[in-house]
Amino acid sequence: MPKPQTLLALNWKMNKTPSEATAWANDLKEKLHLGAAEVAIMAPAIDLQALSWFLKDTGVQLGGQDVSQHESGAYTGEISAAMLKDVGAKYAVVGHSERREYHAESSQVVAGKARAALSGGLVPVICVGEGLEVRERGEHVSYTLDQLRDSLAGITISSAAQIVVAYEPVWAIGTGRTATAADAEELCGAIRNALSGLLGEVGGGVQVLYGGSVKGGNVAEICAQPNVNGALVGGAALEVASVLEMVAELG
Ligand code: PGA
Repeated sequence: MPKPQTLLALNWKMNKTPSEATAWANDLKEKLHLGAAEVAIMAPAIDLQALSWFLKDTGVQLGGQDVSQHESGAYTGEISAAMLKDVGAKYAVVGHSERREYHAESSQVVAGKARAALSGGLVPVICVGEGLEVRERGEHVSYTLDQLRDSLAGITISSAAQIVVAYEPVWAIGTGRTATAADAEELCGAIRNALSGLLGEVGGGVQVLYGGSVKGGNVAEICAQPNVNGALVGGAALEVASVLEMVAELG
């Protein structure tokens, strides 16, 4: 199967006000020459309207960092898939380890969010990955694959062509401790095999990303691994210069 287009997904986390996002987008727009990789900004929901306006016609895609598992109604504080879609988002990150940890999101909830994203016409970027203790016990593959299976509950084969999976080992997030390209490939390959087992041919074609301290200098090597189809980037997503560096390195 040919490799899908590389996705450089920029996870801003809880950074940048709408004014800051606007200034950032204008700076990016002046300097960006998109290359082989698709670029998507996973921004705070409140920034998306401005980003959508200032980045229109650039080819840069947008995504939310979370989405409600409910369609609409009495869910104070939640953002629905329809709302994200309406401001121009293509993606919604679900099950980021920070949401699993600080908001006690179980894989069952994550699966509900992924299904809601799909029904609302968004591509869910479903995050999985083990913590340090699990890695040190040598159980990272089985732990991550269990989390993956539970986070895919109820997703049909026909909708699975629209999902993205991101492997993000928690010990590598924001720590500067990147998994080696071989570590990333080991898990992304295991995830692809599991997806093929669960979803057949469609599963084998799902885009699988690696995330955890990716930046200019390591992005190209990681994304060149046979089973890695892109990166989910946090810290290095905040400065225009480092984004341009990664885009250039991806060719
Ligand atoms: P990092 O974050 O690039 O700062 O490690 C990645 C992520 O949390 O998605």
